[in-house]
Amino acid sequence: MLKPSYHKYTPFAPIGLSDRQWPNKTITQAPVWCSVDLRDGNQALVEPMNLQEKLQMFDALVQMGFKEIEVGFPSASETEYEILRALIEQNRIPDDVTIQVLVQAREHLIRRTFEAIRGAKQVIVHLYNSTSTLQRQVVFHRDMKGIIDIAVQGARLVRELAEALPDQGRSIRYEYSPESFSGTEMDNAVEICQRVMEELGATPEKKIILNLPSTVQLSTPNGFADQVEYFCRHLKNRESAIISVHPHNDRGTGVADAELAMLAGAERIEGTLFGNGERTGNVDVVTLGLNLYTQGVDPKLNFSNLPMLRRIYERCTKMKVHERAPYAGDLVFTAFSGSHQDAIKKGFDYMREHDSEMWMVPYLPIDPKDVGREYEPIIRINSQSGKGGAAFVLQENFGFNLPKNMHPDFGAVVKAETDRTGSELTPSQLWALFDKEYHNVTSPFMLKKHDIQETGHNGHSVVRFSGTICYHGQEHAISGEGNGPIDAFFNALRQAHVKGFTFVSYHEHAISGGADAKAVAYIELMYKGKSTFGVGIESNINIASIKGVLCAVNRALAAEEREAK
Ligand code: KIV
Ligand code: ZN
Repeated sequence: MLKPSYHKYTPFAPIGLSDRQWPNKTITQAPVWCSVDLRDGNQALVEPMNLQEKLQMFDALVQMGFKEIEVGFPSASETEYEILRALIEQNRIPDDVTIQVLVQAREHLIRRTFEAIRGAKQVIVHLYNSTSTLQRQVVFHRDMKGIIDIAVQGARLVRELAEALPDQGRSIRYEYSPESFSGTEMDNAVEICQRVMEELGATPEKKIILNLPSTVQLSTPNGFADQVEYFCRHLKNRESAIISVHPHNDRGTGVADAELAMLAGAERIEGTLFGNGERTGNVDVVTLGLNLYTQGVDPKLNFSNLPMLRRIYERCTKMKVHERAPYAGDLVFTAFSGSHQDAIKKGFDYMREHDSEMWMVPYLPIDPKDVGREYEPIIRINSQSGKGGAAFVLQENFGFNLPKNMHPDFGAVVKAETDRTGSELTPSQLWALFDKEYHNVTSPFMLKKHDIQETGHNGHSVVRFSGTICYHGQEHAISGEGNGPIDAFFNALRQAHVKGFTFVSYHEHAISGGADAKAVAYIELMYKGKSTFGVGIESNINIASIKGVLCAVNRALAAEEREAK
């Protein structure tokens, strides 16, 4: 057996912020979003995006509403240099969008970066170096002072090159990331950022973006939130900085890190669509944005056609969005459990009946329509589905509003079918089952001809039915009178020795509008103490009712025959 080796991991040391304020706050507005799909996301792909794919992704990000987009690390790769040049030279960057370029705090890389951005109107030059205790010890072999020197020298050169650029309506902003911030001693993180701020001349009018990455997640999200709050509270000239976070997802809590960091003071978030990025990825901006949306906060990003966005993403990155990915997965608007399905149906009914403007559907945190999804696939019918689920699918997909007393009967029919086949039913298979079971039931009796006449007798109306029914291939003329079509038909049926049936209930409604409008009648009869249903669909409601009665009769007789065997 393997010896447990968890002892070799160092637990995260809480920073001891006892008067933390963030737990009492709520998020009331969207952060400034910065997409790092084309840089952090792209660099983590098995097959990085080609120029065409990057341009498509850039256009999609712009259309979603991103105003800040990190387009690459142009000094580190020739392809990234080229895409940046293509964006600038082909005039593809809208005036209200700022492109961001990442660069390590190293002289030759900074110089090359400034060559790459020539001609761009609005740029954020994003400078970084690693500051964590671990990286200082095992990678850089430098103390904190040495690490601060690297950042300060880098910042000095960035400012010098930016100020040497001809103005021509250009705006160059600065961002600094103490990479691996969450593994850095907080006072060191504050000090290095302050020194960089001074070097870059940050003011409240020309704020610097200080981006705090959890390059590798090391703690529960509250630990990260404490770090962000501590940082914000100890930074001098806080008003000269925009605090940004850049969570990764090693512990699966990238979204939680970002949300708690916002409570703790973060105003800007760097992330990627569907959480693509190094290892377990960057924080997923789709989830973050739609989490805001479900709290009644405008996310300031457009998710109204999420399936299309997902297709672009999957084509460009060759990654797949998981079936259960929040908001975007194939299965997230599907309820398998019967009790969930019943509750969902009740939620939709309630909203309809009360004309509700507020979303009040249990188990669905968001209206699928808001993200370009359909109600249709919400419920897939399997043997676990409850009685209301199948009725809901018929209603939503085909306009059949089954009376409540029919739901258990139909639910049992569906359960028997899914148990038999061992698989789910699609909406059209469900309709076919309903049709075969309740509507298209023509044996042993089939109506061949029918005529209904209404006459008045002493102030009472009398309905006369006359027609032909076929019984085991033999045609019989029948007729009868009654106080309504159903009554008259019942009396006529007695001539064909159809007896022992009691009328129990009747429901009807129209099914499609316009010239081809039809009426549907749901009939419940009692036969030998058992309830039996039949459905008639015709353009004439009287004929629909009569056909419904005959279907109910046929079903009851068929059931009796089955039981006798
Ligand atoms: O994860 C990270 O720390 C980064 C920095 C370069 C911002 O991507
Ligand atoms: Zn990153």
